[in-house]
Amino acid sequence: MDFLSIIEDKKRGRALSAEQIRMFADGAATGSVPDYQLSALLMAIRLNGMNAEETAHLTMAMAQSGNMLQPDVGGVPVDKHSTGGVGDTTTLVLAPLVAACGGKVLKMSGRGLGHTGGTVDKMEAIPGMRVTLPESEFVDIVRRIGCAVVGQSAELAPADKRLYALRDVTATVDSIPLIASSVLSKKFASGARAIVLDVKTGSGALMNTEEDSIRLAKAMVDIGTLAGRYVTAVVSGMQEPLGSHVGNALEVKEAIDVLAGRVDENHPLCYVAVYLGAHMLLGGGQAQTLEEAKAMLLSALREGRGLAKLKEMIRAQGGDDRVCDDVGLLPQAPCIVPLAAPEDGYLSATDCTALGRAAQLMGAGRIRKEDEIDPAVGFVMEKRIGDFVRKGENICTLHARSMESAKETGERILSALTFSAVPCGKARLLYDLVDCTGVHPL
Ligand code: URA
Ligand code: CA
Repeated sequence: MDFLSIIEDKKRGRALSAEQIRMFADGAATGSVPDYQLSALLMAIRLNGMNAEETAHLTMAMAQSGNMLQPDVGGVPVDKHSTGGVGDTTTLVLAPLVAACGGKVLKMSGRGLGHTGGTVDKMEAIPGMRVTLPESEFVDIVRRIGCAVVGQSAELAPADKRLYALRDVTATVDSIPLIASSVLSKKFASGARAIVLDVKTGSGALMNTEEDSIRLAKAMVDIGTLAGRYVTAVVSGMQEPLGSHVGNALEVKEAIDVLAGRVDENHPLCYVAVYLGAHMLLGGGQAQTLEEAKAMLLSALREGRGLAKLKEMIRAQGGDDRVCDDVGLLPQAPCIVPLAAPEDGYLSATDCTALGRAAQLMGAGRIRKEDEIDPAVGFVMEKRIGDFVRKGENICTLHARSMESAKETGERILSALTFSAVPCGKARLLYDLVDCTGVHPL
């Protein structure tokens, strides 16, 4: 079988066989197939799609392209994955809370991608924190403490690593079979048995419409279920940053603020983190009903057990756990500048991708792969969709490296905000729950 005939078949819209798909994944992992042929096939898949069976085959072939962990963590290994958001710090809130309730959170996280933040970059804002651990140490920390958060190792799903980098530069990211297989191959390889997927929808998400987000969620639940995993997907809103803080150290600070009880439990970041965490406890078998699971997490939060767990995890991964008691020890930007609202009105919409992009351009994300992150920079939104603002009132506090950067970022942020003279509602947070029984509107 030659690779050209595989491209030819997909170009003509035919379904690929399991053998053809395995050749594709292995060719990507080993380097035996050149970038231009892989890219051509990726575009053919992007344009002509894959059926459920092909997508499942591709997921398994990519998972099996490297090491498959079977970690003994003393319980069901659970993981959670977001399709990417802005100010989306749920992992740092929920991993310690779920661990405090007996869950075993084996979290493989990504770095920032495009306008979205990545948990691994956020963790590195904590002085000393190690995010690449040998697999045995990673598993040992989860067994002892209940949670560890690390980056994807080179041995795990190498086919995804290569294909992901190619997709980023060939306009083939936005394909449901390619996203579904990319996300789940890494989860299968890391040995997660229960997986909670947070599929973002709205102006800051990969999928902008609820309909597409549900289709992606369903594809991932179907593959996971077929592979004998417990998979639940939640479609949640990304019309504005989830937390008010955007930027690496700022987002760590906000997660600590939530765990320390300094943020209202109904704040969107806390609310969504508890909802996702509750599904993790169901998947891990620590709770039998969603209400029971939420109550367990809220008790852990109120009793400070989540914060204590975060400290243990930071210490185990070599970080300075004193940041949990003194957020002032996190990197601080030199220029902290308020941004004045340009007019009276209700904040009615944000271009959330543009907000994430503004943080990225400040240095919170990378423009090129080799760029260094500036952990201190970012901004804090002082208003949310639905809030009324007076002209001149501080709408967003900028944390910039220079006054010039603050000025530029302020302009970018203002052009991403829409004001309305008439009152408008808050942004919607939870849209749908998708599990092996179907789609349930929330
Ligand atoms: N996250 C991933 O890991 N892969 C994708 O394709 C998209 C988001
Ligand atoms: Ca983020």
